[in-house]
Amino acid sequence: MPETTRVALAFSGGLDTTVCVPLLEEEYGYDEVIGVTVDVGQPAKEFDEAEETAAALGVEQHVVDAREEFAELCLRSVKANATYQGYPLGTALARPVIAKAIRDVALAEDCDALAHGCTGKGNDQLRFEAVWRDSPLEVVAPVRELGLTREWEKAYAEDRGLPLEGGDEGRYSIDTNIWSRSIEGSELEDPATIPEDDIYDWTDDPSGKEPELVEIEFDAGQPVALDGEPVGPVELIEGLNERAGAHGVGRTDMMEDRMLGLKVRENYEHPAATVLLTAHEALEQLVLTQEERQFKQQVDQQWALKGYQGLIDAPFVDALEGFIETTNERVTGTVTVKLEGGHCRPVGRESAYAVYSESAASFDEETVTGAITQEDATGVAKYHGFQSRLANRAIESARQGANTDE
Ligand code: ARG
Repeated sequence: MPETTRVALAFSGGLDTTVCVPLLEEEYGYDEVIGVTVDVGQPAKEFDEAEETAAALGVEQHVVDAREEFAELCLRSVKANATYQGYPLGTALARPVIAKAIRDVALAEDCDALAHGCTGKGNDQLRFEAVWRDSPLEVVAPVRELGLTREWEKAYAEDRGLPLEGGDEGRYSIDTNIWSRSIEGSELEDPATIPEDDIYDWTDDPSGKEPELVEIEFDAGQPVALDGEPVGPVELIEGLNERAGAHGVGRTDMMEDRMLGLKVRENYEHPAATVLLTAHEALEQLVLTQEERQFKQQVDQQWALKGYQGLIDAPFVDALEGFIETTNERVTGTVTVKLEGGHCRPVGRESAYAVYSESAASFDEETVTGAITQEDATGVAKYHGFQSRLANRAIESARQGANTDE
């Protein structure tokens, strides 16, 4: 008897992944499709829908809980102050976590191949395949490879009587995990369209809301306590999404440059990410030297780019993290942020590693370390801008020379 072939499909129960099931059997010839859904903090409703759709399709469905692992990666991104063009990378960082979990299920279940329902336009195909192509399994992408459009998929699904979450795909394409909620599509595709309030789910209209203070304690760059109470990563992020979301904190409406060059209009909600990134950076401002801060901005930007590309496993990222970890050893202390009117801003910070010296800043004491006095600055002030003055003088006299030559 010939061996049966199996393919593990990244399954959400949405239109793309639903039409993939019969296509993988009929067009690609796999005997069996198994669905894998990875929990990175999507709403419970999404799992119910995936389960129902899988059952209706007769697909064996696996659910992997990766929330803890994903939350830890999100906090790793905080040490790198990671945002890409202003976006805190929720979707991007979740992809390698999801891809690895699916690969592991596929290997454990003796699958021959891995499949996703991504189109050929987006970033996710690249992020998934960067992980999957390192495995011995085949990689297939039916929507991209067969050049399917949503219109075609809808007609095909109707034709086949495929189950489609009550037939309503929703107006927007939404991707949710604990770090961010991304909303795209429909009228939002026009960059000029001002979003209706109903696109938001995590962030409220803050008008009339009393401002609130939140104290976050960091240990070596890792947030460990909220208002003095120790919290784990998942609880911390979920708690801050609630609290800061109630103040309308963490909305982003942006033009995003995708990896393949396409510009796309994106709307995001990310209250916890905004709070943690703001607080972390405020503490770095206190404990790092100017040159460390300046160089770290470049390191952080490179980290965020790799995060966006779904390439956090690159040795380059390990090297960047060498610098990030070393500097973050001193990012220990507490920061108080104020949530007010859709904004989050630091209003207090303290650390045993503070480079700040009150006596030096206020000249209350004559000396700081060693015998430095105010008068010592006189020589520095004389030299400050010296080279520019020399250059300006040279430019002026050269021009005068050129004028008299005429
Ligand atoms: N553009 C973002 C990214 O590539 C998020 C896309 C999320 N997808 C969605 N259907 N809303 O990271």
